[in-house]
Amino acid sequence: MTTQLALSIVDAQLEARLRTRMNEVEAALIGHVQSEAGFVTEAARHLLDAGGRRFRPLLVLLAAETGDPSRDGVLTAACVVELTHLASLYHDDVMDEADVRRGAESANARWDNHVAILTGDFLFSKSSELTADLGADAVRVQAKTFTRLVEGQILETLGPVGDEDPLDHYLRVVAGKTGSLIATSARYGARFSGAPRDVEEALTEYGEKVGVAFQLSDDILDIASKTEESGKTQGTDLREGVPTLPVLIARRSTDPADARLLELLDADLTDDALRAETLALLREHPSMSEARAYVIGLAGEAKTLLKVLPEGPARTALEGFADAVATRSA
Ligand code: IPE
Ligand code: IPE
Ligand code: MG
Ligand code: MG
Repeated sequence: MTTQLALSIVDAQLEARLRTRMNEVEAALIGHVQSEAGFVTEAARHLLDAGGRRFRPLLVLLAAETGDPSRDGVLTAACVVELTHLASLYHDDVMDEADVRRGAESANARWDNHVAILTGDFLFSKSSELTADLGADAVRVQAKTFTRLVEGQILETLGPVGDEDPLDHYLRVVAGKTGSLIATSARYGARFSGAPRDVEEALTEYGEKVGVAFQLSDDILDIASKTEESGKTQGTDLREGVPTLPVLIARRSTDPADARLLELLDADLTDDALRAETLALLREHPSMSEARAYVIGLAGEAKTLLKVLPEGPARTALEGFADAVATRSA
């Protein structure tokens, strides 16, 4: 499969290098999900082959442009983050009872929850095995990342406790479930290309912000974007009762015109007609543009962190990556 980069790169040489490396990542990933058991390979290949934007390995490669991107560990690290991500998708679709992923049937829909969970475990193991090739420090980083990802997923299920502010709670969830792995993608790229320590730290912080922005954009698209565009079922967060940024902002409204929307947001949105009505009201609500503005602000903060880098194609591409995440439409 030839990779389309999920980002337009201004510098032609950099673009060509990234394309070549992403094709290498793609081929390596196929090798890494091989199992002696034919069915396990089939289940693991299911979502790998279905597509996906490969944002995390692309970020590893981009961050590696701050050092020597041709070093061996860079490619391995790119595979590690995509395998971890892929594994988390198998588990997430069980949690969210999702039927569609990457425009294909989710593994839980195609087979069942057991297959989806165990295939996710298989992919996590493959990812860990590969991380071991990067040394003990990388294993520690990977373990901490996974801890944060899982904590984020569990906190989302739990909801805010006591008098915890729902928006603070959600931002904490998002930083854990998505910010953590995207931060690690940037960290690995810097580290395994031999970039200086201060660059690694700045890029990690950049990745964390970009990761949160990425998830918040995704939450906006859950409301704004049709299944044919996103490859996922629209309104899944509403159906599952996960209050995301636009919903949390809308809930603060005291405008009487919002009475019906507020009533719906407290209703059982597993009902298709009620969910469709809620989606229609939300799409037109100012909370959507407020949420988008928040995401653009975060991307701006992320870009400011790139000031440690010299001006040039790598920095421009990383700035473009932050912008693309904030303004993506699919
Ligand atoms: C989906 O991630 C899960 C989120 C963190 C929103 P992506 O949007 O990167 O999914 P793929 O890899 O492109 O399918
Ligand atoms: C996905 O979160 C986060 C992880 C997979 C760790 P969501 O549930 O919000 O993402 P989508 O919408 O299913 O991709
Ligand atoms: Mg989900
Ligand atoms: Mg989820």
